[in-house]
Amino acid sequence: MSGQAQAVILGIETSCDETAAALVARDASGNGKILSNVVRSQLDEHAAFGGVVPELAARAHVAFLDHIIEAACRQAGIGLAEVDAIAATAGPGLIGGVLVGLTTAKAIAAALGKPLIAVNHLEAHALTARLTDGVAFPYLMLLVSGGHSQFVLVRGVGDYARWGTTIDDALGEAFDKTAKLLSLGHPGGPALEAAASQGNPRRFRFPRPLLREERLDFSFSGLKTAVRLEAEGLAPLTDKDVADIAASFQATVAEIVAVRARQALERFARELPGHRPLLVVAGGVAANRTIGAGLQRIADETGAELVVPPPALCTDNGAMVAWAGAERLALGAADDLSFAARARWPLDDPDMRILPDAA
Ligand code: KG4
Ligand code: ZN
Repeated sequence: MSGQAQAVILGIETSCDETAAALVARDASGNGKILSNVVRSQLDEHAAFGGVVPELAARAHVAFLDHIIEAACRQAGIGLAEVDAIAATAGPGLIGGVLVGLTTAKAIAAALGKPLIAVNHLEAHALTARLTDGVAFPYLMLLVSGGHSQFVLVRGVGDYARWGTTIDDALGEAFDKTAKLLSLGHPGGPALEAAASQGNPRRFRFPRPLLREERLDFSFSGLKTAVRLEAEGLAPLTDKDVADIAASFQATVAEIVAVRARQALERFARELPGHRPLLVVAGGVAANRTIGAGLQRIADETGAELVVPPPALCTDNGAMVAWAGAERLALGAADDLSFAARARWPLDDPDMRILPDAA
């Protein structure tokens, strides 16, 4: 593809509760441009259940995906026939939803005779900062979403080393569960951040699990239990109690994330001398301002650069999938129509690598 001036990629994302499609162009020098990015969040479908119901999610993807793709083409002013390749999240995620998006992508690819790119959702998050900010490899990614909390060294497209992960809940999940406990609604992250802005972050001192250890892993379940016990002890909670618990919880996780980020950046400096440490934050929790401020302080103190893509590109969207597809296509990668949807698919899986003979 490198000889071609520009490639336009359709990206499809259906791995959780966003039905999304986008058209993204990549020029021969590797610059990306979002031509359209349409996201339909299923918040209403799942609100009554306090969380995402996989079967309902899959059905909503079936009902809406065609329209979302149509809207993405219309907004970009580009017909499907002009697209160079079709990229879709092939995992990890809720398998029913992944199947809907991947099968749709295969059908379009087969009908148009265009390449299919089966995208790892985590790789799509990992490469977004190259679309938004043009960052160069290598860099460190902190992915903090509803399903993942991990530090990943991004060495190149398809070339990742996971440095740490959560041993229990994901950070977004911890926000969602704590918000549910405090009756703040779903999704919990933004609701909890709003409540916390009215509260005293120093009223409660919650545990910081694993923090004394050097490893780059997270654990949030002990914190969650401590918050629950505190709330049960105070019940019935006043608005002030809720705000103070929310603020204290948020301050605690911001500190945990900041301490870990410092350790990860120090490891980056040790293992990749000659490269200025660069931390890219991805995933829905990247929208949290207290966590962002903590990360900025650590970046300033360690001389690292911090890149946080705009919130709409940190949460799940089709543009990140299209971009990951564009990056892979530019290296000669394409996938067979028999590629199977995956519920689990770690970034450091050997089959993420783009084989030299593919180029
Ligand atoms: O990346 P994302 O949209 O979906 C995936 O999980 O892949 O992330 C959603 C998660 C939810 O858990 C949500 O509560 C959390 O990100 N989140 C936040 C904020 N905005 C979204 N957490 C904390 N503060 C926020 N402002
Ligand atoms: Zn995601």
